[in-house]
Amino acid sequence: MDVSNRMSAIAPSGSIAIAAKISKLRKSGENIIGLNVGEPDFPAPDQVIKATTKALKEGKTRYSLVRGEDGLREEIANYYNRKYPRTITEANVLVGNGSKQIIYNAFQAILNEGDEVIIPIPYWVTIPESVKLAGGVNVLVDSKENFHLDLKKIKAKITPRTKAIYINTPNNPTGIVYTKEELIELGEIAKENNLFIVSDEAYEALVYDGTFVTPSTLSQDLFDRTICIQSFSKTFCMTGFRIGYMIASENIIAHVDRFQGHLCGNIAPFSQYGAIEALKTDKQIVSPLIEEMRKRRDLSYELFSKLFPCHRPEGAFYLFLDIKPYIESGLVRDSAHMVDYLIDNAKVALVPGSSFGQEGYIRLAYTANQKEIKEAFTRISEVLKA
Ligand SMILES: Cc1ncc(COP(=O)(O)O)c(C=O)c1O
Repeated sequence: MDVSNRMSAIAPSGSIAIAAKISKLRKSGENIIGLNVGEPDFPAPDQVIKATTKALKEGKTRYSLVRGEDGLREEIANYYNRKYPRTITEANVLVGNGSKQIIYNAFQAILNEGDEVIIPIPYWVTIPESVKLAGGVNVLVDSKENFHLDLKKIKAKITPRTKAIYINTPNNPTGIVYTKEELIELGEIAKENNLFIVSDEAYEALVYDGTFVTPSTLSQDLFDRTICIQSFSKTFCMTGFRIGYMIASENIIAHVDRFQGHLCGNIAPFSQYGAIEALKTDKQIVSPLIEEMRKRRDLSYELFSKLFPCHRPEGAFYLFLDIKPYIESGLVRDSAHMVDYLIDNAKVALVPGSSFGQEGYIRLAYTANQKEIKEAFTRISEVLKA
């Protein structure tokens, strides 16, 4: 019997295939350095674990509110109001099972069959699949050479069917942080054409140079047309807790609330109590993380830019390495071949640019420690010299 067309149309995840290959090699005794993983190698903070355990012991183990615990949504609103020049309330917040589910919710909330979503390349792998699952059509647009938004190209792709523009800043896989100026211009395009902006801000706190700007703060009009996607996974090292959230107009939140009620009911309440503690102690958690990640960013950029042309990333925890010189020299055919070549010969795992819609690049995640980053560089230098 056949599965649905909707399911068969979902592309397999390239990064899961790499993870399976690495796991097999490690089982056979190979020492593989994983620079492929999109999560910090830090444990969840102690105070978060304590608050989660306390919540479990106190019986926060039952069904709870669809849009998230009141206490968490209030803390999220406080966090936003502390950081940004705009005031929101808990009515603008909805909590989901990781920002992955929030992205899914967002496209389900705004797309009708055949509506188009403009997505700058490179993009995070889940985005086009979430658009498709909501009946939407992906309209992919090249970015500028420095990976900032190519606003002329974005404008040129707008049609009467365009419903939204998706952006991701700080960006996975490039580490680029969009400037206030380009977001203002993007906002004008969205306003002129009455479009939503789906702004994926999962790496919002991980910025090493410059300032993170969310389009939602730039004007009331932009707040109303922006759906912010946020996550506890990266900022608070809580990937397994599966807590993400949406900040949007009360109208959008109310629609998504009804939808989420049928989709998953609620998010594990004890995880949410851990998240409340994370927000109450945010500086204590985030400052050391940023300090360490900045060191790793500097180290990996200094080393790997000797082997591959690369833009210096301002945020997230990725370098997007240009492998075209090695394609031109005939060493490898494409990014998937380069990733295989480096796993097989240098025992270092990365992710092909093709997984992000951008051939000719590979993504390095500096989520491994500094010793491993140095060792990975030595191994890769040796195999590329050979
Ligand atoms: C750009 C981006 N958005 C969202 C997510 C989803 O994160 P989570 O579902 O853990 O919140 C990721 C994870 O890698 C990501 O890279």
